[in-house]
Formats: sequence, structure tokens, C-alpha cells
Amino acid sequence: MKKVLVSGAGGFVGARIMAQLAGRYELCAFPKGMLAAADETAVAELVWHEQPDVILHTAAISDTGYSQKHPEESYRANVQLPLWVARAAQTVGAKLVCFSSDQVYTGLTDIGPFAEDTPLSPANVYGRHKLEAEQRVLDARPDAVLLRATWMYDLPGYGLPIRGNFLLNLYSAALHGGTLRFSCRDYRGITYVREAVEQLTQAMELPGGVYNFGSENDCNMYTTALRVCETLGIHPEIEKQEWPRSLLMDGSKFRNAAGVGFADTQAGIKHCLREYGLE
Ligand SMILES: NC(=O)c1ccc[n+]([C@@H]2O[C@H](COP(=O)([O-])OP(=O)(O)OC[C@H]3O[C@@H](n4cnc5c(N)ncnc54)[C@H](OP(=O)(O)O)[C@@H]3O)[C@@H](O)[C@H]2O)c1
Repeated sequence: MKKVLVSGAGGFVGARIMAQLAGRYELCAFPKGMLAAADETAVAELVWHEQPDVILHTAAISDTGYSQKHPEESYRANVQLPLWVARAAQTVGAKLVCFSSDQVYTGLTDIGPFAEDTPLSPANVYGRHKLEAEQRVLDARPDAVLLRATWMYDLPGYGLPIRGNFLLNLYSAALHGGTLRFSCRDYRGITYVREAVEQLTQAMELPGGVYNFGSENDCNMYTTALRVCETLGIHPEIEKQEWPRSLLMDGSKFRNAAGVGFADTQAGIKHCLREYGLE
């Protein structure tokens, strides 16, 4: 059984990795809270001690607004830390799978969907740091797999950390009131996090490189929200906006290399609702 070391195991994605992949891999994790303060030596020592076959690196400052306001903290967490993990992976010969983000596509004016080799100039700090991390990690560890993840969602599950996400925000607004705003010129895929975690088993086997990683979407976020509300039979107040953005990703590189792909955004939501007995 492969030994897999998980960073960010207390987070939204990491906690689900620990729950969902248990029994299929020998899982171990960086201690909770360690990576917010650790230096490169501490990272290297932990990796050396664990001698993993694979490292799944999810630890990050994942809040784009926080990164924008605290660029130095973001640089440490989102550029330096993955580089330290990559160098440590090199010393033990571990395969590294590292989360990047669709935010690297901010600032593009086309609608896409964008392939991994699209020239980029991200419009926010988080996107810039994720892009720099991809490049530096690949320089240090050319067989590393960098996953450009979309916005991910889940519903509250017993014992698992939850954060504001597309599906939960719709439910909360329907239950508690409040207006949600979505733009009819905003294009992006959103992904059921459990589907993303499942696909990590394939990601661990991929050749090194950058991969778009998540559900595709054939419509804008305003229409996506309306369709999901119709499926759920809920009626939150949704305000239509018109600001432009596209983070749409072409998933064919991952699909072709892994031999499996993601459900599209609408099918992913139905999958999630089915798993929670809500469809
Ligand atoms: N969630 C999304 O929708 C989404 C979308 C696109 C990309 N991503 C990327 O996917 C990965 C996982 O995201 P997530 O939603 O699971 O993030 P998260 O819930 O914010 O968890 C990140 C984890 O990183 C560790 N961490 C927190 N602050 C840190 C700091 N200052 N320095 C280093 N480590 C720190 C913590 O791990 P411990 O609790 O174990 O200490 C935390 O639980 C990240 O790389 C994120 O950028 C996420």
C-alpha cells in the first residue's frame, strides 16, 4: 500500500482526503497548525521522518481576499511552502501532487475554455502566487503534478470542516434570507469536492506538469445558480450582475492523461445532491 503524506489535512480538501482515501492508502499528515509557522528545515525533517511515496500538498492560504490584503503571508504560504515541500519530496523520491487554482486565469479577456499553455498574467495576488508556485515547484521537481482546481463545494458533513461555497451559499440564502449576486458574464466551473478527491488517485499517477482539474461548465454563473435552484426547488433572492470574468478551463489534458474526467458542473451538483439524499 502506498504511503501518502497530506499537508493541510485540517482544511476543506485535506480533511476529505483523510476521510475518503483511508483504507486505500497508508495516510499520514503534517500536524494541524504546523505549516502556518514551520520553516524549510521543519518541513524537510517531517518529510524525511515519514518517508512517503506521495505527498498531497493542499496547505495554503486559500482565501483570495486575505491574500490580496496580506501579500507577504500569501507569498510564504502559497509560493515558498510548496517549494519547500517540493525540495523535501526530492530528497525522499516522493511523487508530489500540489493544488493550484483556476485563479491563475484571472485577467484574461476571452471566454475560454482555457488550456494549460495559455499565456497568463493573473489579476490578483493569489493567482499570481499560485502561478509562480507552479513554475518553481516544476523547476525543483519536474515530475510534480500541479492541479488547477476550480471553486469546490460540499454540504455540511459530520465532523468535516466546511466553508462558504456555491451550493451552501444558495441553501443558506434560501433558508435565512439575504441576496446573492451572480454575473451573467462570469464563467467558471465549480466542482463537487468529493469528486476532486476521488480523482486524486489518478492524479498521483500522472506525468509531471500542470493540469486543469475540475468540472467544466456550459453557462454563466447567473444561469448556473438559477438552474441549481430549480433542481433544488429553492428560491433565494438572486441579483443579476454584469461584470465580466472567465476562469473556464479546458479539462481535456487531465481527461486524456488520466483516462477519466469530471462530470460537468450541473451533473456534479446532481451527484452531490444524490449522495446527500436530496435529489
Ligand atoms: N476550496 C476551494 O474551493 C479551492 C479552489 C481552488 C483551489 N483551492 C486550493 O486547494 C487547496 C486546498 O484548499 P482548501 O479549501 O482545503 O483550503 P483551506 O480549507 O483554507 O485549508 C488550508 C489548510 O492549509 C493550512 N494552512 C492554513 N494557513 C496556513 C498558512 N498560513 N501557511 C501554511 N498552511 C496554512 C491549514 O492546514 P492544517 O489545518 O492542517 O494546519 C489549513 O487547514 C489550496 O491550495 C487552495 O488554494 C481551493
